[in-house]
Amino acid sequence: MTLALLIPIIFMPKKLLSIWKKNIVDEDELNAAVTWAYRLFLDREPENNYVVEEKRKKLLTTREIRTEFLSSEEYKSKNQPLCHLPMSGNEPPLSIEFTSDLREIFAHIKTVWEKLGKTEPYWSVLTCERFKSEDITSNQDDFYSSGKENVETFFATLLRNGIKPADYETCIEYGCGVGRITAALANKFSKVTAYDISSSHLRIAREYISQSNLKNVEFVLLSSPEDIRLPKTDVVYSVIVLQHNPPPIIQFIIRAMLRALNSGGVAFFQVPTYRLGYRFSLREYLSSDIKREDMEMHVLPQKEIFRIADEEDCRIIEVLEDGWAGIAHGERSNTFLIQKR
Ligand SMILES: C[S@@+](CC[C@H](N)C(=O)[O-])C[C@H]1O[C@@H](n2cnc3c(N)ncnc32)[C@H](O)[C@@H]1O
Repeated sequence: MTLALLIPIIFMPKKLLSIWKKNIVDEDELNAAVTWAYRLFLDREPENNYVVEEKRKKLLTTREIRTEFLSSEEYKSKNQPLCHLPMSGNEPPLSIEFTSDLREIFAHIKTVWEKLGKTEPYWSVLTCERFKSEDITSNQDDFYSSGKENVETFFATLLRNGIKPADYETCIEYGCGVGRITAALANKFSKVTAYDISSSHLRIAREYISQSNLKNVEFVLLSSPEDIRLPKTDVVYSVIVLQHNPPPIIQFIIRAMLRALNSGGVAFFQVPTYRLGYRFSLREYLSSDIKREDMEMHVLPQKEIFRIADEEDCRIIEVLEDGWAGIAHGERSNTFLIQKR
């Protein structure tokens, strides 16, 4: 850098220099930026000064603030489908190993979710600070109303494709969690059967459905892969569930969901279909002990879903880009609308 350029930078006021670096150093300015990020990205005020200060302590640049808010579950759930191009088309194939022996993987996923359901049941569904246990009482209405919005998206997708929701009576929700979407589905269909791998999530879902005075919901706890034998149904619905399972399990569940459909029935489910750098090796997965109790994020490529649909005599009606699994480049999540012939 020449001296002529260096001199103005040395004498530049601290605030101006920080903007030039996109690094906000002034505390008030940073508080204001975080507060405005709540308004711009989440369409609401921050809960309190404490949450603003917590974010201020960890977010030091405009880019960090933007990334934090754009990748939050709350932003994603309020802004679906996100308008971005997840892939350039030049991405390489993914190395994914499949197996038919699912018992050990399934048992591991069950342990992770049982634990999450005991510690942070709502936050484990939508990973957003205000759905943490200490704050859930004041935010429970927002939590459950986000489920209504998800069902509205489902119905809009049906109608856009000339499919009449009124023709359907029975619905399976796969991976119902704490019933965030179950109640909204129960208001639309005569009978909903809601499955989950975690008894701790199901306990809360049962309570919520009973408080909501809904009598048309049956809950089923899944204990092993053999339990994923789903009864005949008109509709299968599943979002933000498959992504937490390794590819061999995702593949198995999708087949079970499509197999369960009555003729003319539809499956509407979300699954990440590509992530740059993702790989799945069974041996590595079973032997690794890193972060084994964390929520995992996996991928099943589109071609596998198309193949299963074909084998189960189904037709792909629509593939939506949904942004549920992140918005980084090279990260693609899709919601599929698939109909049984
Ligand atoms: C992120 S939560 C989503 C819950 C619900 N779908 C929603 O959107 O509100 C994921 C849920 O899927 C359940 N789950 C994860 N893997 C599963 C599997 N293989 N079979 C059934 N449920 C599963 C978890 O126990 C958890 O309740």
